[in-house]
Amino acid sequence: MKLDLDKLLNRVDAIPGNFHIAIKVAKMLDDFNVNIQELSKIIGTDQSFTVQLLKLCNSAQFGFSRKIVTVNDAITRLGFKTLKSLVFVVVSKGSFNRPVEGYDLSKGELWRNSLSCAVYSKYLAEISGYKDPELAFTAGLLRDIGKLIIHEYVKEEYDNIINLVNTENIGFSEAEEKVLGYNHSQVGAKIATKWNFPKVLVETIEFHHNPKKANNDCVDKKLINIIHVADSIAMMLGIGIGNDGMMHSLSMDSLENLGIDINSVGIETLISDMVDLNSEIDLLMASIS
Ligand SMILES: [Fe+2]
Repeated sequence: MKLDLDKLLNRVDAIPGNFHIAIKVAKMLDDFNVNIQELSKIIGTDQSFTVQLLKLCNSAQFGFSRKIVTVNDAITRLGFKTLKSLVFVVVSKGSFNRPVEGYDLSKGELWRNSLSCAVYSKYLAEISGYKDPELAFTAGLLRDIGKLIIHEYVKEEYDNIINLVNTENIGFSEAEEKVLGYNHSQVGAKIATKWNFPKVLVETIEFHHNPKKANNDCVDKKLINIIHVADSIAMMLGIGIGNDGMMHSLSMDSLENLGIDINSVGIETLISDMVDLNSEIDLLMASIS
């Protein structure tokens, strides 16, 4: 069965979550002359969103002794970039923290996996000297958004997809594309475009399993490599993975691009550094549970 992409994209608005607020806020935070009052007003229009955002700002992770009580306060103390990624965390929770049956993910699994990919992406950005670790965090967080849209179809066609993975020795994404006409990365990129995500995020979503397909027109190939490596390690570590978990490959070129030693010691060291970050992921999850 091939997907009808137009029909699918028309259904997308039914997804819970305030991505329109996140995009609006992210754009405002990109402008250093942003009107803070106006920004607070936009964030404040959704009260439960504001409550969750402030809870997250007050998480032990940031270690403030004096509580952050207003959005203005959060901007001053955390800075624009951090606040922007926290806005996406709050928004994403509404979409990711639920069962995603087609990928055999029970409630909370895709959420933990996405947060892990975000934290790992930020870490990889820092160790590889990438210019904007907070952007890497957000890109890592959102890379699997397409799974929310196509999981029902994956469920129906799962046997055919797995059959192709086994008989043609290809990855899950490639098999998804062959069976459904599109894989979750391509559908995710279409949704991100529809929701006016910045181009850089559309590209990280589109190429997170296949960084080699990113051509020279891409805004930020280094970020694509970061998200690909973070995604692969989150999957390898088995964090909130579903039925496609072990069926994606890690590109050695991406590792090399980030200056990571591709011998077994280099990769093992990286993976053990990632495992050390898991307490940070627990803290993040606990602060907006
Ligand atoms: Fe994915």
